Amino acid sequence: MNIAIIGATGNVGRKILEVLGKKGLSISNLYLVASSKSAGSKIEFKGKEIKVEDIETFDFKKADITFFAAGGKISQKFAPIAAKYSTVIDNSSFFRMDSDVPLIVPQVNAHQLDIIKKNIIANPNCSTAQLVIALKPLHDLFVIKRVVISTYQSVSGGGKAPMDELIEQTRSVLENKKVESKNFTKQIAFNAIPHIDEFEENGYTKEELKMTNETKKILDNNIEVTATCVRLPVLVSHSESVNIEFKKPISIEKARYALDNFQGCKVIDERSDGGYITPLEAQGSDTTFISRIREDDTVDNGLNMWIVSDNLLRGAALNAVEIAETLIKNNSYGK
Ligand SMILES: NC(=O)c1ccc[n+]([C@@H]2O[C@H](COP(=O)([O-])OP(=O)(O)OC[C@H]3O[C@@H](n4cnc5c(N)ncnc54)[C@H](OP(=O)(O)O)[C@@H]3O)[C@@H](O)[C@H]2O)c1
Repeated sequence: MNIAIIGATGNVGRKILEVLGKKGLSISNLYLVASSKSAGSKIEFKGKEIKVEDIETFDFKKADITFFAAGGKISQKFAPIAAKYSTVIDNSSFFRMDSDVPLIVPQVNAHQLDIIKKNIIANPNCSTAQLVIALKPLHDLFVIKRVVISTYQSVSGGGKAPMDELIEQTRSVLENKKVESKNFTKQIAFNAIPHIDEFEENGYTKEELKMTNETKKILDNNIEVTATCVRLPVLVSHSESVNIEFKKPISIEKARYALDNFQGCKVIDERSDGGYITPLEAQGSDTTFISRIREDDTVDNGLNMWIVSDNLLRGAALNAVEIAETLIKNNSYGK
């Protein structure tokens, strides 16, 4: 198995490396690729130093599976080239809504990997991945009619530069210095910004529309989804407050049991001080945590819950590597 990671020096790329190391996949050659800026630098993998290569000169023929984690423009330009020789697993949003590209969260819709037309598979947006994992077992039980989501997203969702900026801004505020915002539209330290990605004409942001469209593509086109996405001064892990209306009558006990037994999910919901999960506790964990499950009696068959997951793992690297594992199991990767 020859694997390449494009964007290996970034947040997601480094996490893909970490997950590959933990999973123990049998890798013959691992190629780490980034921009000319970091070409030549070295990254350690399993005790061996690997030199980062420049994407402009990288030979895509060398890989069987190529992970892309370098942004939409790089995926747009290079993923079709890589896909001639290897199966591409793309973390950017560029191919997600392409009807010829499966958008996959393996425990939810691995069956959609049966047809891979362009040799490209898309990894969903980080907020969507953790959402659909928690919606799937409930949809199977009670059939979802409508979902309303408010997100509380960490700055790592924007890459490594926003993480550095949050720390810098926090220091500036505490030291009474002038705060500069480079990666955010307003000060992020000690604040909340209801704006992630660009605005569309209808007033929604692209991040909000990604959640709607991707959830429908992965889970069920009949579900109505609406979202408000907010950036918080949290380094890692996204949280979501989710309100769901079902077609069938619900049972909170059945919902808790199904969520707790779904692959990758865990219910922590003690209805007492601290009996729920916060972003800090989810950081570094492969698990999507569900807390605050309760009936919403303002609508028929309504339920509220709180979902927290490490956005760099479930929302990106872990999901991407689990797609690769599924492809390897199905023996459906490569040229
Ligand atoms: N962060 C998340 O939670 C998350 C979740 C799901 C999907 N994603 C997606 O994953 C991708 C990467 O996100 P990230 O958070 O890892 O960003 P990041 O930390 O900013 O890292 C970006 C990576 O892309 C490389 N890169 C930038 N410009 C390049 C160029 N011209 N040619 C080659 N490589 C280039 C960088 O290499 P240099 O070091 O050489 O600049 C770096 O390795 C994005 O498409 C993002 O939307 C992110």
